[in-house]
Amino acid sequence: MAPFIRYVGVHKAFGANAVLRGVDLDVEEGETVVVLGGSGSGKSVLLRHTIGLHRPDRGEVWVDGAEITGLDEDDLIETRKKVGMLFQAGALFDSMTVEDNVAFALREHTGWDEERVRERVEEVLGLVDLEPEVGALMPSDLSGGMRKRVALARAVALAPRALLYDEPTTGLDPITANTINALIRSAQSRLGVTSIVVTHDIHSAFTVGDRIAFLHDGRIRFHGTVAEAREGREPLLRDFLQGGGYA
Ligand SMILES: Nc1ncnc2c1ncn2[C@@H]1O[C@H](COP(=O)(O)OP(=O)(O)OP(=O)(O)O)[C@@H](O)[C@H]1O
Ligand SMILES: [Mg+2]
Repeated sequence: MAPFIRYVGVHKAFGANAVLRGVDLDVEEGETVVVLGGSGSGKSVLLRHTIGLHRPDRGEVWVDGAEITGLDEDDLIETRKKVGMLFQAGALFDSMTVEDNVAFALREHTGWDEERVRERVEEVLGLVDLEPEVGALMPSDLSGGMRKRVALARAVALAPRALLYDEPTTGLDPITANTINALIRSAQSRLGVTSIVVTHDIHSAFTVGDRIAFLHDGRIRFHGTVAEAREGREPLLRDFLQGGGYA
């Protein structure tokens, strides 16, 4: 099977700061790859390349059989419909209700009437275990865990084929973090989506991942199954795991 997402020799520098120095990584359709790496190692930068929010200085990014680095903003819309992203900072629109947040992309991209939009909002809130009444609340009314759920509902509203999660459990208590991990798992099994999860959280990584990729000094230094990651044959990854995740 062809990979759904593929990074080939991706290089990205910001001025003198060479962040990505030849990232090669394939993500197969339907699998969940967890990208581990220290703070500032370029995990978020890599994810943002997947939907054209950054363009590589060199290298290729493939999504669903298309090389996207040369696409203009109009063509990138198709990629962004296929690939939902849960941003690191949650990124809900604070001045909009939960319903309007979740409906935003539907109104932008589908041409559906309001009734159909509302039905879909209710449906995706249900997918993340939120009652329809939550739709009327403002983001400031929500706990951290609920905000993450709403962000996830918004990311799945257009039924994307892939989901990118940037630190989905950071800042949450362990119980709430586990419910988010379970949601990531169920999005994969119920919706069959291909997923990339970026995290510092090793427990989360081993819970949700099929495979682990370890980003260090701008390259993927280890790529293997969760079991292989646990075996700890790659010294850099072993040090990272023994350090509790923070490099
Ligand atoms: N838009 C930008 N302009 C300039 N530098 C950037 C930009 N985005 C990221 N960087 C730099 O790229 C490097 C990698 O940042 P990135 O946010 O990808 O790290 P990260 O691995 O996601 O870290 P964290 O775990 O803390 O979220 C950092 O040195 C950061 O300062
Ligand atoms: Mg980050």
